[in-house]
Amino acid sequence: MPLVTSTEMFKKAYDGGYAIGAFNVNNMEIVQGITEACQEEKAPVILQVSKGARAYANHNYLVKLVEAAVICCPDIPIVLHLDHGPDFDTCKACIDGGFTSVMIDGSSLSFEDNIEVTRKVVEYAHAHGVVVEGELGTLAGIEDEVSHAVGSYTRPEEVEEFVSKTGVDSLAIAIGTSHGAYKFKPEQCTVNEKGLLVPPPLRFDILKEVSRRLPGFPIVLHGSSSVPQDYVKMVNDNGGKMPNAIGVPEEQLREAAKLSVCKINIDSDLRLAMTGTIRKFFNEHPDKFDPREYLKPARANIKELVRHKLVDVLGCAGKA
Ligand code: G3H
Ligand code: 13P
Ligand code: ZN
Repeated sequence: MPLVTSTEMFKKAYDGGYAIGAFNVNNMEIVQGITEACQEEKAPVILQVSKGARAYANHNYLVKLVEAAVICCPDIPIVLHLDHGPDFDTCKACIDGGFTSVMIDGSSLSFEDNIEVTRKVVEYAHAHGVVVEGELGTLAGIEDEVSHAVGSYTRPEEVEEFVSKTGVDSLAIAIGTSHGAYKFKPEQCTVNEKGLLVPPPLRFDILKEVSRRLPGFPIVLHGSSSVPQDYVKMVNDNGGKMPNAIGVPEEQLREAAKLSVCKINIDSDLRLAMTGTIRKFFNEHPDKFDPREYLKPARANIKELVRHKLVDVLGCAGKA
């Protein structure tokens, strides 16, 4: 089937109490690892491309890689989405260039300016059959192109006005997740009986109040990598240095997926799987230099990690 928008996917996810995985893609192996898992698990999927990904790989290469995935995975619906669109022109370039969904991230602007730019993107997108994600509230954490030193939770009292004035199709909110592999400082965490750091819980009270005010409306969570400690250890055991990398507990994401959260963004976990696997490969095979030899196990581990997310966290396996 051709690329689709997320409209139907989100409706089914909302009613079915699960979420769609939105995974960032930057190269062929990442596209293949994600979509092979989705095809085997019969899971709908959102492949998302950031401003940084477009700068790294080139818009045309990414679109063609995703179109290749559509051919290779005929049984599942795939959305091609712009992640954190920084301005109208970038959104327009993606709408004109084959994307079926865009995010306009006006979360660092004033409420009024965020409404203005988001409404402008929605008008253009809807006229071209493309859907739009907006954002209210800012996430803490630092990610190459997405940088907010301090986050601020979404204010539920603003969401109805934002959605009605902009016409957005989905809304990203800030309830305590953040971008990157260092989501929480150790001093924010408690220590459990196994001596592991436990981060502060997500603000489900905010999520529930937003949903009460926007019944049936799809909510998006960014910054939702769980930073698997096995992969952090693999990185650190093989020459890396990632002390105190901590993510969002998967059980909390599963709970959010049962509520109004229909899209969960995961990028850092895939980066960790890829980097840990490649570091280990080189440590064990210092004589090897064929990229296919180290990218193959990296792609396989991305695939298994995505499968785990689909089945155990998002609940969207079998929903294609
Ligand atoms: O939220 C941002 C995504 O993880 C994309 O990151 O800007 O480094 O491509 P990037
Ligand atoms: P992570 O850094 O937690 O993977 O978040 C990714 C994201 O929100 C992409 O928009
Ligand atoms: Zn994000």
